[in-house]
Amino acid sequence: MNLFDVYPLWDIEPVRGLDTTLWDKNGEVYTDLYGGHAVISVGHCHPHYVKMLSEQLDKLGFYSNAVQNSIQKDLAARLGKVSGYDDYALFLCNSGAEANENALKVASFHTGKAKVLAFRKAFHGRTSGAVAATDNPKIQAPFNSTENIVFVQLNDLAAVDAELSKGDFAAVIIEGIQGVAGIYEPTDKFMHGLRSLCDKYGCVLILDEIQSGYGRTGKFFAHQHSGVLADIITTAKGMGNGFPIGGVLISPTIKPSYGMLGTTFGGNHLACTAALAVLDIIENEHLVENAAKIGEYFHSAFADNKAIKEYRGKGLMIGLELKDEYVGLRNRLLFEKHFFTGAAGAQVIRLLPSLTVSQETAESFVNAWNSLI
Ligand SMILES: Cc1ncc(COP(=O)(O)O)c(C=O)c1O
Repeated sequence: MNLFDVYPLWDIEPVRGLDTTLWDKNGEVYTDLYGGHAVISVGHCHPHYVKMLSEQLDKLGFYSNAVQNSIQKDLAARLGKVSGYDDYALFLCNSGAEANENALKVASFHTGKAKVLAFRKAFHGRTSGAVAATDNPKIQAPFNSTENIVFVQLNDLAAVDAELSKGDFAAVIIEGIQGVAGIYEPTDKFMHGLRSLCDKYGCVLILDEIQSGYGRTGKFFAHQHSGVLADIITTAKGMGNGFPIGGVLISPTIKPSYGMLGTTFGGNHLACTAALAVLDIIENEHLVENAAKIGEYFHSAFADNKAIKEYRGKGLMIGLELKDEYVGLRNRLLFEKHFFTGAAGAQVIRLLPSLTVSQETAESFVNAWNSLI
């Protein structure tokens, strides 16, 4: 059997990793400023992460959600504390799309309404509701098409008001910072306005922090830069540092009932252990602070860079929009200088490194960049 051919692949096969370094099968060394798409939050193969997972695997890898699981409860308590959403409840699942899918369902159950407002260029995942709320017709099958999702422009509060005032919306879903779109931020003013409009019209405000969360922007969740509170927050990617796990943080105003949500694998022992190890490392190594610090370094180092049209983002969620003559730089960074980066289309290079990235590594990237332009 062959693999279902949906990914264009680089001809590179990493076989070993340590922090932000990767080795391929030929022994070539690479620096990873992409983190496998913002997933590697605490570095590849962090010794504490490896130890905790190995020890848990020796005890119990999995049991279903039919029994007590104190690792889940520890995770909920720790996540509540570190995120500032102490009084919220946690539902655990396996991926970002699944977290959003469940968030949309919870909002719809809670309000008894079906419609959802989303934003142009948004990406929320590939399951049925999540992909319908994703502004990319190319990845929506006819099966996913629904009149229940309405898109408006990011930061256009009047457009939000015009839609929500119709009174039939269950939720608004918004990324903390739009990632796949190429790193676009909602303004603080917009976030405050959005919160007020959701309150006014009885809508659930869902913050998709799957890419922008877990400390990446210098706060635990990106929307916390604006000071606004969400009703539901979704997380995944950095939460397990590569172990599949997603989470839905749900306001105490939204009441659960037995059977409302469910999953076979979600919240299993290994996944929760991975997430606890990640939180240990984030706290012990002050990684949220490091994300802010290295983010500031990148921002100042790339100010007025001749290849860059616009620098976007916060902390370690960075979009570098290239001037036309420098399109192609990403491949040169990879093949000539051995730096992995992300992209949004041909024009935007995305940096989504592990929050452990050092000043030295950041400087070596800037030097490599400057040597190519
Ligand atoms: C903002 C956002 N939401 C949701 C998802 C979907 O996550 P997953 O691929 O884990 O389903 C992504 C993935 O890139 C994302 O960036």
